[in-house]
Amino acid sequence: MSEPCCQITDEKYLKLDEVINQYKGKAGGLIPVLHQAQLIFGYLPKDVQIRVAEGLGIPLSEVYSVITFYSLFSLQPRGKHTIGVCLGTACYVKGAAEILQALEENLGVKVGESTEDGLFSLMQTRCIGACGLAPVLTIGEDVYGRLTPEMLPDILKRYEQ
Ligand code: FES
Repeated sequence: MSEPCCQITDEKYLKLDEVINQYKGKAGGLIPVLHQAQLIFGYLPKDVQIRVAEGLGIPLSEVYSVITFYSLFSLQPRGKHTIGVCLGTACYVKGAAEILQALEENLGVKVGESTEDGLFSLMQTRCIGACGLAPVLTIGEDVYGRLTPEMLPDILKRYEQ
């Protein structure tokens, strides 16, 4: 049986230690380590933050401030599907803020949070290079463009399983 996505195992910590050792003592190592840690664990819980801080010999507060500054890092387990709403200029001008607000209402979460059923995480993104389709959102690898708030329930339904 395959392991649940968010379970934290010793094996994952061993992988994290390998990554930490690779970047230890190198300038600018924190972001690549956190990026790898998120790939390994799916998110960055407190224990992982501590391991990274101790491993790299930097204050935990520095690790935490980097995680909270970059929206690509998550402090909570991610949902099965990550929804990314583009808030780049072209999308913003075409109503991305309304799309985001409608999604928050539909899903009952704020940006950066995941739904209670673990199905969706709601994130904001920068320009994804599909400005001609603005406003745009992504769900995993899928891109939806020329959105209106009315289109959202049907789009979400495709992933509700
Ligand atoms: S600004 Fe949204 S895709 Fe470019």
